[in-house]
Amino acid sequence: MCGIIGYIGNQKASPILINGLLRLEYRGYDSAGISTIEKNGLSVMKDKGRVQNLYNLDGINDLEGTIGIAHTRWATHGKPSKENSHPHLDNSNSFAVVHNGIIENYNDLRKFLSDNGYIFHSQTDTEVIPNLIHYYYSKDKNNDELKILRAVQSTCKDLKGSFAIQVITKYMPDNMIVIRKDSPLVIGKGNGENYISSDIPAILSFTKDFYLLNDYEFALLSRDKIEFYDMDLNKIKKEVKSIEWSASAADKNGYEDYMLKEIFEQPNAIRETIGSRLPENEPCNFDDLNFSKEFLSKFNKMYIVACGTAMHAGLSGKIAIEKLCNIPVTVDIASEFRYRNPIIDKNTLCIYISQSGETADTIAALKLSKAKGATTLAVSNVIGSSITREADYCIYTHAGPEIAVASTKAYTSQVILLNILALYFAEVLGSVPAEEISKIKKEILALPSKIDEALKSAKSIKKFAKKIYLQKDVFFLGRGVDYNTALEGSLKLKEISYIHSEAYAAGELKHGPIALIENGVTVISIITDENLVEKTISNIQEVITRGANTLVVTNKNLPSNNINTIIEIPDTHVLLSPIVSIIPLQLLSYYISKEKGLDVDKPRNLAKSVTVE
Ligand code: G6P
Repeated sequence: MCGIIGYIGNQKASPILINGLLRLEYRGYDSAGISTIEKNGLSVMKDKGRVQNLYNLDGINDLEGTIGIAHTRWATHGKPSKENSHPHLDNSNSFAVVHNGIIENYNDLRKFLSDNGYIFHSQTDTEVIPNLIHYYYSKDKNNDELKILRAVQSTCKDLKGSFAIQVITKYMPDNMIVIRKDSPLVIGKGNGENYISSDIPAILSFTKDFYLLNDYEFALLSRDKIEFYDMDLNKIKKEVKSIEWSASAADKNGYEDYMLKEIFEQPNAIRETIGSRLPENEPCNFDDLNFSKEFLSKFNKMYIVACGTAMHAGLSGKIAIEKLCNIPVTVDIASEFRYRNPIIDKNTLCIYISQSGETADTIAALKLSKAKGATTLAVSNVIGSSITREADYCIYTHAGPEIAVASTKAYTSQVILLNILALYFAEVLGSVPAEEISKIKKEILALPSKIDEALKSAKSIKKFAKKIYLQKDVFFLGRGVDYNTALEGSLKLKEISYIHSEAYAAGELKHGPIALIENGVTVISIITDENLVEKTISNIQEVITRGANTLVVTNKNLPSNNINTIIEIPDTHVLLSPIVSIIPLQLLSYYISKEKGLDVDKPRNLAKSVTVE
């Protein structure tokens, strides 16, 4: 989804900006542009298409400016085109703006500005912003140093919706202004230079020191100073946060694609996420929560709310919490939850999962549950991201930066963290015998090597991918925890290979989808729950009889039973098996996508971080 980059320093800004945009490419976009402050005013260069194309624009190499803003656009208002690309200028070419988010009342603002003589060159919601800034700037008769900040402040007060905005202006050629509300933006602090970005990995190679803005906070940047203001333009103090991720963690490290690298990073991501949470012979360590039995006992139900893959991780969390703590858990899709008027109160714990911590629907759902008096707990991979700042409590996965749009290592890290959280709740509540808990803990610690083992399936999976990559429809079946894995496997396949796929609870097959099974259709099943082996095998036989081509991922010793391909994975506790059984399915969608010659890391129409509704 739209990405923002900014640079203010003593080096030529344009190459730094384009380089930054290249690192944000994975977020998904359809056009790109930059604006710099040149000796003779503001320059804007932009076009639809790839960031790489910016290098070929006439005059791009002549830009000398050392301050600039840049943007990758993911179309919402108006088709991808040069006119609709950012940066946008006001009518007098005095203010250049890039914006990430959606201005919901842009029609009213456009009308207001048109009535005041302003002309619009694009169909975007964004173009109202530089013009409103100009409107307020020209109306202000005071010529003090806060004049431009006041114009931006008045503009932002008029805006409804979400925004992260960067402004440069010919009136302050040594400064840049940024402000945000509900859209991501981070400020990287350098030495005599500063950086702006939509997310941390894009500027990790320049700095590890970041400032994070809360809603309606401004920053006024110069080369060697950053001043922060609240919405009333009172100066505020902000702490710098140092990020531990290494810059090379955001590189491909010899792998052909980020997704493949991230699939293979899973043993380590799991190891890091377990971290020091399972000390030997002691209860789980969640000193970031420190919940008492009395506190936890007041929750008579829980919600887990998220989007996409994070929601699928939540399904595994539900099974673990219900089984170990005996508390009912509902998993909900954030975009549904936020408009449903959910029945929650002070006795509800709402857990929000988001890799990026910036997904608009998840943040809105979290705010809603807070307003209803529920206790909120965020699970995120990004330190200081919006949901972690909104929630009452927050715990982190430590998967490292995830660049590929299709989530892999963040997913397995979420599933493991939710399982450890469930164990922690169970220990505090005393709801499970100690032997059962230590059995699961032992299995958790063995997971990294079991994932390593499962990764060895890559060769056979690649072979299977070559056989089925031209298929139009693929079905995924499973029961219990394996149904959750079927859902996630099916989502991966859709996301990066564009093959239509359906995931079904195996027992539901006969209630409809079996009508679609005919000769040659591929059916992929997951079998890891020993109580459900026979049941699922019977369902597989039903599709084999109707001519399906079958693949089974299992940690059980299955008779071949006319199954075409069996992928064996290491056995583990049933609650943890989704972490191992998803590995061959991630590899399968990867190899199918490669076989089809698609862009694995940047699938069409998708964005890594969905910061609009
Ligand atoms: C997008 C991404 C998915 C991701 C979902 C939720 O749709 O393409 O991979 O699962 O957002 O993202 P989050 O950052 O909230 O986990």
